[in-house]
Amino acid sequence: MIIIRGADGGIRAFANSCRHRGSQLLSGNGQCRRIVCPYHSWVYETDGQLIRAPGMEAAAGFEPDDYPLLEFPLASWGGFIFVCYEREPPPFENQIGNMPQMFDAHRTESMKFVGSLEFEIRSNWKLLVENALEAYHTGSVHRDTLGQQESRSIDSSEHWTGLLVEDENSVATLVGEDKPFPHIEGLGDEAKSGAYFTVLFPATQFVFAQDCMWWLAFQPQAVDRTRLTIGACFPRETVELDSFDEKVELYFNRWKLATAEDNRICELQQRGQVFAREPGRFAASEFAVHRFSNWVVEQLG
Ligand code: FES
Ligand SMILES: [Fe+2]
Repeated sequence: MIIIRGADGGIRAFANSCRHRGSQLLSGNGQCRRIVCPYHSWVYETDGQLIRAPGMEAAAGFEPDDYPLLEFPLASWGGFIFVCYEREPPPFENQIGNMPQMFDAHRTESMKFVGSLEFEIRSNWKLLVENALEAYHTGSVHRDTLGQQESRSIDSSEHWTGLLVEDENSVATLVGEDKPFPHIEGLGDEAKSGAYFTVLFPATQFVFAQDCMWWLAFQPQAVDRTRLTIGACFPRETVELDSFDEKVELYFNRWKLATAEDNRICELQQRGQVFAREPGRFAASEFAVHRFSNWVVEQLG
């Protein structure tokens, strides 16, 4: 996909594929005035229109207007852009449900993205999503980093679920470490009491904490391999603090260590998916994993 803000200010999503013979057009992040295909130099405007197709004069009946980049519908909420691979998208509200109402007060749209981490994991993506949806494992897997956490269920509707990990401080740094940044102003009583670990199905996690938010994008690479990107966002006022660059290391340290622990356990679980395995029982505290598993079954029809 190409996600691009056009010269007209509009944000659009296009297939990252030239309308001639399908070369990939762009990679990475950045800016460009026009999109030029590296293969035969067809040129597209940032709104997707094909404006030059050199050497096509002799192609009978060829009209550049007939070959704009293929566009996909998108929606946005909270500073994030959601692209639909279907040409006729189901209403966005039917996907995201009550997530916007629930996390409005965290004001993620005015936060600043400050950095990301990447991991390659030898595990199916669903095991990682399940891991992201329960605190049952924290006392063993994160014994020395996060410690045992308590969680409770939250009201989610449509295609997401989550849990509230209770802690009046922030769980965004390691247990026993400093919690250096101010809490977001205007949070309700429930939001003040902990961090929401949510998954927008199928494979995007948003964590809404009292002092920041972070997201996990699980990208399946193969049946037993997943790429994970974690992105960190903080309120603008927090980022402007003199101590920010130094203190934010506490957060990145937590994301590195705890994520490595989660990844390791999911790789071990992947190795345990032997053919003779029979399904076990969920603990009551795995309510959100249960919800996700049922969602997967529903999608399979
Ligand atoms: S494939 Fe893009 S110009 Fe030929
Ligand atoms: Fe974990």
